[in-house]
Amino acid sequence: MRKIRRLLENKTGWWFLSVLAVGWVAGLFHAQPAGAEYADVVLNRLSEANGVRPVIYPHWFHRIRFRCKVCHSELGFKMKAGGNDINMLELMDGKFCGSCHNNNIAWGLENCHRCHSGLKGLETGIRGGHKAGGPGVW
Ligand code: HEC
Ligand code: HEC
Ligand code: HEC
Repeated sequence: MRKIRRLLENKTGWWFLSVLAVGWVAGLFHAQPAGAEYADVVLNRLSEANGVRPVIYPHWFHRIRFRCKVCHSELGFKMKAGGNDINMLELMDGKFCGSCHNNNIAWGLENCHRCHSGLKGLETGIRGGHKAGGPGVW
C-alpha cells in the first residue's frame, strides 16, 4: 500500500497506475466467454432421438491441433453450433468427423462412446467457454 501511495504522489506514478488500470479493464473484457474456439460443442440433433447419447465435440482440443480452414473450409463444417446437417452414415462415408476418425489420422468410428459421451437431455450448443472440460464432463 505504501508503494501505491508514493506513486499517487507524483505524475509519473499516476500515469503508471492508469496504464495498469486500462490493462486490467482490457483484460476483463478479454476474459469474457470465448465462444466455440475454446469450448465444447454439444451435438444432439439426432443422437438422443435415435437412442445414443449426445455427442460432445471438444472444439478447443481440435483447434489447437488443426487450422480453422481444415474443418471450416476444406471439410465443409459451417461455423455455427448445430448448423451442420451431419449424420452417422456420412461419417462412415469419410465425411466431416469421419474424414479424420478413421483409424488413420485419429481413432476410428467404432469407438462410439468417445463421441457419444454426453449426458442425456443436453441440448445442441456451446458448453463451457474457456472452462471446456472435454468428453465425459457434461
Ligand atoms: C467421431 C465421432 C463419432 C463416433 C466415434 C460415433 N459417432 Fe455417431 N454421431 C456422431 C455425430 C457428430 C452425429 C450427429 C450428432 C447429432 O446431431 O445428434 C452422430 C449421430 C449418430 C446417430 C444418430 C442417427 C444418425 O443416423 O446419425 C446414431 C444412432 C449414432 N451416431 C450411433 C453411433 C454408433 C453406434 C457409433 C459406434 C459404432 C457411433 N455413432 C460412433 C459422431 C460419432
Ligand atoms: C477439427 C475441426 C475444426 C477445427 C480445426 C476448427 N473448428 Fe470450429 N467448429 C468445428 C465444428 C465441428 C463445429 C460445430 C459445428 C456444429 O455444431 O454443427 C465448429 C463450430 C465453430 C463455431 C461456431 C460457434 C457458435 O457459437 O455457433 C465457430 C465460431 C468456430 N467453430 C470457429 C473456429 C475457429 C476460429 C477455428 C480456428 C481457430 C476453428 N473453428 C477450428 C470444427 C472445427
Ligand atoms: C481434422 C481432423 C479431425 C476432425 C475433422 C475431427 N477430429 Fe476429433 N480428433 C482428431 C484427432 C487427431 C484427435 C486426437 C486423437 C488421439 O488422441 O489419438 C481427436 C480427438 C477427438 C476426441 C477425444 C478428445 C480427447 O479429449 O481425447 C473426440 C471426442 C473427438 N475427436 C470427436 C470428434 C467429433 C465429434 C468430430 C466431428 C464433429 C471430430 N472429432 C472431428 C481429429 C479430428
